[in-house]
Amino acid sequence: MSERIANAALRQKVMSADDAAALINDGDQIGFGGFTGSGYPKALPSALAKRIKESHDRGEKFTVNVFTGASTAPELDGALASVDGIGWRMPYQSDPQMRNKINDGTSFYTDIHLSESGMMVRQGFFGKVDYAVIEATRITEDGDVVLTSSVGNNAVYCDVADKIIIEVNSWQSEDLEGMHDIYGGFALPPNRVPIPITHPGDRIGDKFLHVPQNKVAAIIETDGPDRNTPFKPIDDDSRKIAGYLLDFYDNEVKQGRMPKNLLPLQSGVGNIPNAVLDGLLHSDLEHLTSYTEVIQDGMIDLIDAGKLDVASATAFSLSPEYAHKMNENAAFYRDHIILRPQEISNHPEVIRRLGVVGANGMIEADIYGNVNSTHVMGSRMMNGIGGSGDFTRNAYISAFVSPSTAKGGAISAIVPMVSHVDHTEHDGMVIITEQGIADLRGLAPRQRAPKIIENCAHPDYRPMLMDYYERALRDCKFKHTPQLLGEAYSWHTRFLETGTMMVRAAVRGQGFLPRR
Ligand code: COA
Repeated sequence: MSERIANAALRQKVMSADDAAALINDGDQIGFGGFTGSGYPKALPSALAKRIKESHDRGEKFTVNVFTGASTAPELDGALASVDGIGWRMPYQSDPQMRNKINDGTSFYTDIHLSESGMMVRQGFFGKVDYAVIEATRITEDGDVVLTSSVGNNAVYCDVADKIIIEVNSWQSEDLEGMHDIYGGFALPPNRVPIPITHPGDRIGDKFLHVPQNKVAAIIETDGPDRNTPFKPIDDDSRKIAGYLLDFYDNEVKQGRMPKNLLPLQSGVGNIPNAVLDGLLHSDLEHLTSYTEVIQDGMIDLIDAGKLDVASATAFSLSPEYAHKMNENAAFYRDHIILRPQEISNHPEVIRRLGVVGANGMIEADIYGNVNSTHVMGSRMMNGIGGSGDFTRNAYISAFVSPSTAKGGAISAIVPMVSHVDHTEHDGMVIITEQGIADLRGLAPRQRAPKIIENCAHPDYRPMLMDYYERALRDCKFKHTPQLLGEAYSWHTRFLETGTMMVRAAVRGQGFLPRR
């Protein structure tokens, strides 16, 4: 038996994943650990999926409601979704199987700001949580848990669940001990107190997660890697977008609106944010800090180069190569990285106080600066809002970054009116595509539209957008935010024809743009 379980009483609770899965019943609500493919339980969900499938094969109903930190992996979301085992789920997800089940109507999905998800569970908005299932790298002699590559909502779920199942994963480095900062000061109104963080490097909690031993129903030993996805090589467009953002920051410093080492950086997930981090690596900036949601490869490079003093997040989102590096060198990185509960990493109060500068991806933005991060064509869920709202609404400067087109040029990311709104014109401040940058601060809607079209839209779509805007300005009775609603919505009517992949992107018969 693994020496990683030092507590004698808890060693007695070790069992197989199948035996632990047998404890779970139809309709149970389960709070799973895991965030962006890191630190999620790896054995119990698949065993549970097997059990659910067997029940379905016998004609019995069996679904569970799944709470997580954020996205997980094929072994969790994928396994449970593929057997139609998830009745309801929250918050952020990105697994293809899960996405399909949400979009075909099999599973309900409640897409909540990540900072609020745990808080709402504590408030009891979603009812009782039956099980918390979390991953540990080690359990101490006193029965305290050393978490692994994410913190997410682990503490919430262990606090509120009736029973706890812990997977002890020997793939995870024991040197992660000391990297976590588990704040335990949560209370419900009217007893809330300020979160005492005034610098990204402040530690305000405990390095262990304390779990009541009497609630521990099972311990499972595992030895599997996280879902670590390689980043794509940085392409020209990502490099251009990163360049515009860094020039913008540079100008803010020159204008005296940001200090020389910038303000704590928040970086969304994906390849463009990774390109931004690469741009920082090749800049002459020093003593950077980060108050963000996930630690990506680029931040590890910045730490290695001595440019990033400290990064606060709730999880890793590393490529396999960098996950290996982390496992080998966690004792070094824990002096530079703090993993916090997502209630704290994404806390609006702290983000506002620190003056975080954020950059997140988007699906589309409209000519007035409203942003859609979640729904393709207004109805097909992609991933979810994640932490983008937490940061965008509260950041000192909030940017959205995206290629100006999707699907090989067939779809414009700049549209007359977004097909779904996640971030309103009141929240985002800067929009950047490979075409350029639109700084929207202080601009009224009619000042924004020409700027976004000229600076950010792809040249193929600029004439159509400008034509739309000019007619809206002429024909709409109200001139503050001129729109022609019927036309604005019909912009989203696109026809994808197999083979030629033509797209009806324009209004007024102006065009079918061939895919390039
Ligand atoms: N219309 C149709 N499809 C679009 C689209 C558009 N306007 N824009 C993007 N897409 C599709 C892409 O084609 C791609 O599809 P594919 O997977 O079938 O190839 C997919 O959406 C992802 O787009 P991509 O260009 O690869 O960007 P990304 O990986 O940076 O993801 C978001 C963009 C918006 C989906 C992603 O940033 C996200 O989920 N954001 C919300 C959460 C968030 O911001 N989290 C960070 C906060 S800390």
